[in-house]
Amino acid sequence: MFNFDFYNPTQILFGQGQSAAIGQLVPLGARVLMTYGGGSIRKNGVYDEVRGALAGHTVIEFGGIETNPSYETLMEAVALVKQEKIDFLLAVGGGSVIDGTKFIAAAALYKGEPWELLENNGKTIEAALPFATVLTLPATGSEMNGSAVITREATREKRWFASRKVYPVFSVLDPSTTFTLPLRQVGNGVIEAFAHVMEQYLTYPVNSALQDRFAEGILQTLIEEGPRALANPDDYDVRANVMLSATLAMNGLIGAGVPQDWSAHAIGHQLTSLYELDHAQTMAILLPSMMRVRRDAKRARLLQYAARIWNLDGGDENGRIEGAIVRTEFFIRHMGLKTSLADYGLDHGSIEAVLTALEAHGMTAMGEQRDVTLEVSRKVLEMSL
Ligand code: NZQ
Repeated sequence: MFNFDFYNPTQILFGQGQSAAIGQLVPLGARVLMTYGGGSIRKNGVYDEVRGALAGHTVIEFGGIETNPSYETLMEAVALVKQEKIDFLLAVGGGSVIDGTKFIAAAALYKGEPWELLENNGKTIEAALPFATVLTLPATGSEMNGSAVITREATREKRWFASRKVYPVFSVLDPSTTFTLPLRQVGNGVIEAFAHVMEQYLTYPVNSALQDRFAEGILQTLIEEGPRALANPDDYDVRANVMLSATLAMNGLIGAGVPQDWSAHAIGHQLTSLYELDHAQTMAILLPSMMRVRRDAKRARLLQYAARIWNLDGGDENGRIEGAIVRTEFFIRHMGLKTSLADYGLDHGSIEAVLTALEAHGMTAMGEQRDVTLEVSRKVLEMSL
């Protein structure tokens, strides 16, 4: 196992009705900016619940944060924070609202040009406003991590930043807020969480017995509970299991002390910014091809994955690996996602555009061994056609 330095200060309030505690947790006297997305929280009662819990506070609102939150929109919120002397932020929504709020929190106190935060992946963040979240879509893990992904519309760039200064102070995870998710977002969330585990698990062995078991436990839970969430959308326990899985997939724990990949994510972000595919849709397309193209480098882990997740532990090794990949594709499709670029009307032209974007952002030696060159990315994309 590698040395590691695990940090995660976010308080988690998990379960039905937990948003009632918000009023006590947000400092009295704070000037609160409540951020949200396109209006789902107004339809499902979450808005009223949160406003009720904050009845004794000064609350100003900023709605309209779009999916794949845009720098341009978020800069309007930064101006509002300064104008209204906001000193606490509360993000209510999915990963996009939470990521966007992390950016607002850091940009509001940043001395330079805020896009620099994305250009240097958050290295220059010295301070951020405190913020909390009320999660309504289990997927990204943003509610319990210090990362965010922001899109600049003007240049069609999707970039990330990470910093210890942008962990939420607390996050409310009430599974009943997810009952109103469209099935597409249920499937997206499950596959996104699955992809997060895979990029921290499917690398090479470092004798990380416990992290492996945690990761495998999350994968198995998603494989069992994901289809149940589609079939029985009103089942609270299923929603709770999916929600906790998505949070733990990306809160740093399973990635502590192990190699990490993230090359599928990097390629996926280019597909989203160029062609507006949902983040999870890009993962559904790229994960199986990544496994096939990098089968040799990841052989030991693929065999472990085949044995422990899909019970394929006898016979020819290549057959076991292919069997595990085919089962992964089946699971992804069962969750309602498509697994090829052609399914979205994309052809060879899109491959060149993605490779150009990867090169422009210096993403030419990615993955746990830095061996995902542009040539390897090309093979993955070609296999995804
Ligand atoms: O905007 P509203 O009206 O709220 O609707 C949203 C949105 O249209 C809707 N929704 C959310 N909760 C709902 C609901 N609809 C009904 N009932 C509810 N309870 O769902 C739609 C998608 O929401 P969004 O927040 O965009 O989805 P997600 O949570 O998947 O976030 C995606 C963003 O997170 C980034 C992605 O790149 C993408 O920009 N990621 C962030 C990561 C992180 N911070 O660690 C890691 C990830 O890999 C990912 O890159």
